[in-house]
Amino acid sequence: MRLMTLLFAAFVSVAGAQTPPAARSGGNTTALEVLQRLKGMDIEASPALKGAVLRVLESTRGTAQFVEIVRDFSLTGQEAGLLEVAVNLPGESAGADAVRVLLKAGGASALEAALADTGGEAGRRLALVRALANALDPAGVSLLVGMLTHATSDGAIKSAAVHGLAGSEAGARALLGLARDSKLEDAQRSAAALDLAQSRWPAVREEARKILPPPRTADGGELPPMGELVKLKGDAVNGAKVFRDDRAACIKCHRVGGEGIDFGPALTEIGTKLAPQALYESILDPSAGIAFGFEAWSVERRDGEEVFGLIASETAEELAIKQQTGVVVRLKKTEVSRRDKQKLSIMPAGLAQILTRQELVDVVAYLASLKSGAK
Ligand code: HEC
Repeated sequence: MRLMTLLFAAFVSVAGAQTPPAARSGGNTTALEVLQRLKGMDIEASPALKGAVLRVLESTRGTAQFVEIVRDFSLTGQEAGLLEVAVNLPGESAGADAVRVLLKAGGASALEAALADTGGEAGRRLALVRALANALDPAGVSLLVGMLTHATSDGAIKSAAVHGLAGSEAGARALLGLARDSKLEDAQRSAAALDLAQSRWPAVREEARKILPPPRTADGGELPPMGELVKLKGDAVNGAKVFRDDRAACIKCHRVGGEGIDFGPALTEIGTKLAPQALYESILDPSAGIAFGFEAWSVERRDGEEVFGLIASETAEELAIKQQTGVVVRLKKTEVSRRDKQKLSIMPAGLAQILTRQELVDVVAYLASLKSGAK
């Protein structure tokens, strides 16, 4: 107890001497170290200690330490700061921890409100869904189901929700329930099928085999789970042919070097940008991660005509829409009555179903071979 008293005095003086913006300065490191030793102490019993803890907390906003301090001292009323960490670091354990603390400490409603806020910064809801997905917390299952089935969710949000649900047993069961009630769209069905086919829980795998069979390829076979798919050997030379033939028609939307139509992203160096797993995901579930600037728009003219495509450029007076043929249509803004961003990618889902399994593997081998410097 005497050690505690000493530490306490040292801490209050270190933390007190410090101004909050001096995050990660020498003084803050000392304060954080002392804080470590004090964790579990009832800070409500001492206003001086509580004040000092809150000062250190303020200096750690947006970082993993913020979450640790809130958790270690069971601080209340820190929902905004926890949400900030989840949005900043959705792919790191700190982001997932922030979500877990929120779910446990009665902050679920703050999380729910943030997820429902479609007016906020773009990308914020997706980041929160990713953090929630990474938390793998049974208490987050209903929020993920909500995001997966909500009309305002785009493909990326839905896909992140599927991956998050598939990762916990309660979530996987919820996914199976949605599939059974036909509440999954095609793209999410195939993402869920591929995830659940390699679920850790045998009963889930068994059930998924019945109600969510993995997508079938043109030769009638089922695609193996991603873990096995990426290990299959492909023939890049044949893949190059498939890429150009009339069924997949990849070349009608993508350029490779000087060849092809300039509509979707150029794939000349795609093997450098995306690893094989990401290449498979781009083909199997294009809406999961729509490449930046390649979102589809439906633009309506005052005469009722619809123009569908990518926004190639925009000025104060004019909107240029690139259609699937590569042709750019220029519209005066005064002619435009409405424009809606589409939730689905223009790249069709289900391309895997028109190829055989080997052809799909070959196309990915071909894409993986397209690297910077390679001819
Ligand atoms: C109708 C046009 C269209 C067709 C056909 C098409 N794509 Fe796409 N593709 C797009 C668009 C648009 C994007 C960007 C939006 C997105 O990421 O979903 C894209 C994105 C991609 C990406 C991700 C690129 C990146 O930089 O992240 C890959 C890889 C890809 N396509 C491969 C293929 C392959 C392989 C085929 C043929 C099997 C194909 N595409 C057929 C339009 C098409």
